[in-house]
Amino acid sequence: MSDIERPIIRPRRLRTTPAMREMVAETTLRPSQLVLPLFVREGLDNSTAPRPIESMPGVVQHSRDSLRKAVAEAAEAGIRGVMVFGIPERKDALGSGAVDPDGILNVAIGDVVAEVGDAVVVMSDLCLDEFTDHGHCGVLTADGRVDNDATLAAYAEMAVAQAAAGVDLVGPSGMMDGQVAVVRAALDAAGYADTGILAYGAKYASAFFGPFREAVDSSLQGDRRTYQQDPRNALEGVREAVLDVEQGADIVMVKPALAYLDVLRQVRDTVDVPVAAYNVSGEYAMVEAAAANGWIDREPAILETLTAIRRAGADIILTYWAVEAAGLVR
Ligand code: PBG
Repeated sequence: MSDIERPIIRPRRLRTTPAMREMVAETTLRPSQLVLPLFVREGLDNSTAPRPIESMPGVVQHSRDSLRKAVAEAAEAGIRGVMVFGIPERKDALGSGAVDPDGILNVAIGDVVAEVGDAVVVMSDLCLDEFTDHGHCGVLTADGRVDNDATLAAYAEMAVAQAAAGVDLVGPSGMMDGQVAVVRAALDAAGYADTGILAYGAKYASAFFGPFREAVDSSLQGDRRTYQQDPRNALEGVREAVLDVEQGADIVMVKPALAYLDVLRQVRDTVDVPVAAYNVSGEYAMVEAAAANGWIDREPAILETLTAIRRAGADIILTYWAVEAAGLVR
């Protein structure tokens, strides 16, 4: 003992008590930083219970009625944002339900806005994959490729329909080139200059979207690798985010979160708008599945996950745990 060199610098001093650790904590996690994604399914009878999504235990497809209740509950928990996804009863090649003012997503936006008013920021997914029978984020050419510019025209129409329904922020997530500029121009031309854009800036062709396919009843033909990004590329993610800001994005998002924390950090250090991260379905499912097996301690794993995403640079986190996590950090 006596012949060891005793350290002068002792980082452990700052870890001695909960108060000390709380005082020096670098990262905060607050309910207002969390956004709850919600699914609403057309044709679900208000008297029936919401439909569970098997691969996402605890997450459901809502009826219009139960959606309103879920949003009110989220507001009560201190959540300040929701992202709504619609699942139409009938899908077709063009995804026509997306632009129909009576389509499920557009009527649900109206419901949610009527329920919570200004208390919660209402966002909506602006993408065709929930509405197309082939499951792609855009319309197809005759030979089956995703047609960038034809898709832009659909996004423009979809953005205006969502704005007319009262949404605060549209969330273009299809990774078509030029989508943010086209959506911004369409909103402005239709008199919706105050409707904002949360752009999925860096979005990767990810295996972690798996459970989402069940959540929106999508049977994707092929894959999304001609429009979503290659997981090997980080610089490209930064470039995509910068392009979105230049085209008028008010917030840019990185998605998925956990396997892309480096991209998130680089985007945060590069752009000057708020940066969001989407803690996606597969990331949720991994923790839930391991916890259900008793292999990890669920609540600490949730908090560690969300804290890491914040630490990497996310100002805002979309997470299926939003309401529960809000309770844990309060
Ligand atoms: C596109 C969209 C997807 C997700 C959000 N928006 C699916 C995809 O692009 O393949 C995935 C969200 C999740 O996995 O939780 N509409």
